[in-house]
Amino acid sequence: MNIVVTNDYKEMSIQSAKFIVKNLLKDNKKISIGLATGNTPTGMYEVLIPIVNLGIFDDRIFYYNIDEYCNIDLNKNGTCKKYLLDNFYNKVSIKEQNIYFLDELNYKNYDSVISDFGGFDVLILGIGKNGHIAYNEPGTSFNSLTHIQELSIESKRQHEEDFGSIENVPEKAVTIGIKTIMNSKSILLMASGKEKAEIIKKSLKGDINEQVPASVLQLHPNLHVVLDKEAASLL
Ligand code: PGA
Repeated sequence: MNIVVTNDYKEMSIQSAKFIVKNLLKDNKKISIGLATGNTPTGMYEVLIPIVNLGIFDDRIFYYNIDEYCNIDLNKNGTCKKYLLDNFYNKVSIKEQNIYFLDELNYKNYDSVISDFGGFDVLILGIGKNGHIAYNEPGTSFNSLTHIQELSIESKRQHEEDFGSIENVPEKAVTIGIKTIMNSKSILLMASGKEKAEIIKKSLKGDINEQVPASVLQLHPNLHVVLDKEAASLL
């Protein structure tokens, strides 16, 4: 595990984008990238946009979201699709056929789509305050593939602002599984702010168990963690 501690959110965003760009330029072949959504990666997308628009990645890169809410119009605020359109896809020149939207209707063949690449080449993850990664909530099997997940009250609270109120947060989400995550060739975990310090410590230094989904990342051979100093403060 490689941990980079930065001074602030801006530097975390720059360092994260740098890691992604390096990985996207590594091989001259088709590359898959799994994209996190949420407050954490927004600044990183801002850094990435002008770089993608230089055209240096051409059409070899295929972009995937890694979770999505269920039973909701995907054009509404709060969904992962809307987030990625607003913060990334609508601002870059990427061909439509290079963008794949995971949702509750197509999730059953998602692992086979990703396994055609031999797993994600690069997977970007944020972390929930309860240790969820993508939307794998505490208690999810480390053997899970892409599945539908009931959301915990902690996760709903964490994302209530995205939907206007907690009542509007969907009950369920489709998410890549822990096994899908661990099959990735390289993983970038990002976290910022003191409210993430406790879960970062538990996940990276604590016991590895299914009650703390992110703890499984300790077992990944190519994990790169970028934190701001507040999120790293308990390490
Ligand atoms: P956040 O969400 O980046 O908005 O904190 C992370 C997550 O819930 O996985």
